[in-house]
Amino acid sequence: MGNGIAHVFALNGFEVTLIEAKKELADKALATIAKNLERQAAKGTITEAEKSAALGRLKTALSPAEAKGFHFAVEAVSERMDLKKQIFRDLDAAAAPGAVLATNTSSLPITEISSVVKDPSRVVGMHFMNPVPVMKLVEIIRGLQTSDETYRRVHELTLKLGKTPAAAKDFPGFISNRVLMPMINEAIFCLMEGVSSKEDIDTIMKLGMAHPMGPLQLADYIGLDVCLAIMGVLHEGFADSKYRPCPLLKQMVQAGRLGVKSGQGFYEYKAK
Ligand code: CAA
Repeated sequence: MGNGIAHVFALNGFEVTLIEAKKELADKALATIAKNLERQAAKGTITEAEKSAALGRLKTALSPAEAKGFHFAVEAVSERMDLKKQIFRDLDAAAAPGAVLATNTSSLPITEISSVVKDPSRVVGMHFMNPVPVMKLVEIIRGLQTSDETYRRVHELTLKLGKTPAAAKDFPGFISNRVLMPMINEAIFCLMEGVSSKEDIDTIMKLGMAHPMGPLQLADYIGLDVCLAIMGVLHEGFADSKYRPCPLLKQMVQAGRLGVKSGQGFYEYKAK
């Protein structure tokens, strides 16, 4: 999601440094942003001048230290607490005094991530939705020690990005995934129990509830490994069996069928 976040900041006038561990990954992220900006320009959602200006505001770095002195950061690495803590230590060391450090985590506790920095009051959850350039929501999550000032700054920033902020406290899954993932998990139970076919489950939820995608297609789009990890966070965090991950979801992940990114999930996908 990092490239989508960088895309939206650059398009809305912010100078952005996109940090990746390897040069090839940074180049790939820039190429994806260029392609998605081109898609928006071709549709007339943005002008050619806005596209070029956004590209001109983007640069890359290979570590937070290389981007030293920044006033705001959004971390979007994979959902591993040890990795997030290491990144936050590095961000803390390289940030300008008073900088806000945000995480785009989909379900890991903000309070725990913030425990490794000097001033946890400046750490906040800024949860974007995929595809970031299209989806209007930013879920803002306050850790136990997030200050009112940090919340206010992120709220204002979200509005400057043309998005709509909505607040949640730091409880497992926040609001978005606490409500979304049990629905997806239940759809997978329905498939496993043979209540209906995958196509009909998706059609019922898509047309019946006016969702843009059915839950099984959406699970493939999000990534089945991500869905399983989030169910794990809910199950462990609430110690409640109602959040137990569906055995079929576990099996799909064990088989490496992760959805769009692996070419096969509940549906099959051709490589782009
Ligand atoms: N960058 C820029 N624009 C993009 C884009 C991208 N990456 N992806 C799609 N678009 C644009 C398209 O250009 C198109 O623009 P217009 O409306 O101006 O024509 C528009 O988005 C719709 O795209 P498509 O026509 O290609 O396809 P679609 O109509 O089927 O919509 C979709 C695709 C936007 C993904 C839609 O199916 C959708 O909204 N799906 C649900 C997405 C969702 O629920 N996201 C949240 C997932 S949960 C999450 O992210 C958080 C978590 O923690 C797990």
